Amino acid sequence: MFIDSHAHLEMREFDRDREEVILRAAAAGVDYIVTVGTTLRDCRKAVEIARRHPAVYAAVGIHPHDAKEIGPNTYDALKTLAGDDAVVAYGEIGLDFFRNLTPPDIQRRRFAEQLEVATDLGLPVIVHDREAHEETVATLKAWRGKTGGVIHCFSGDAAMAMTCIELGFYISIAGPVTYAGSERLWEVVRQAPLERLLIETDAPYLTPHPRRGRRNEPAYVALTAQKVAELKGVSREEAARETSRNARNLFGIPRKARTS
Ligand code: NI
Repeated sequence: MFIDSHAHLEMREFDRDREEVILRAAAAGVDYIVTVGTTLRDCRKAVEIARRHPAVYAAVGIHPHDAKEIGPNTYDALKTLAGDDAVVAYGEIGLDFFRNLTPPDIQRRRFAEQLEVATDLGLPVIVHDREAHEETVATLKAWRGKTGGVIHCFSGDAAMAMTCIELGFYISIAGPVTYAGSERLWEVVRQAPLERLLIETDAPYLTPHPRRGRRNEPAYVALTAQKVAELKGVSREEAARETSRNARNLFGIPRKARTS
């Protein structure tokens, strides 16, 4: 029923009970989970998890926080990983000027480089944008949305959402849509066409209301679907069906053949 288009099952927060988390997601009606690597080490782990679980796919790429760790062999290693059938996207990549864990100039260079790696691989991109809206849009415009993609955990305004949609991107809505006072995000959901929206948890982060305060997990994507449905004036089933179809189209899932 649902697709969690962005989670981090490979993170150590799930080392203790990863299998139970994946089972709970299935029980909650989550058909597929895309687990998104952020470092080379976590990308390897994400692909391993996806290979073991038919309901899990992986994305590989280096997060802007970790962009300073990119070395001479990193892209070759990512390209090798991306050859696995379980890998359906490149990311998450982008700009984070909120935390600046990597200096901004290095983030910019690595973002542009990784957009080209994704183009070479023919994979859609998963874009992280925090406090970097204008530059993110300018970079994606220059790239001309070559392989398409999604702006994950969208935090811009409705005008930015429409610009990204015109560039061929999907907009992914995460747990903050369920928080009080998220008027700007509610307006994004109201204005963006349902056929361009995805839903995600970004687990273990950004737990939706009323679970906020504990670790997030893919089963809770149902709470985000419920809020999106309310804002769109449709049933939760319709919101689930539409956002799942969008995720299937973007990521090309399910894949017919899985490496075992
Ligand atoms: Ni993430």
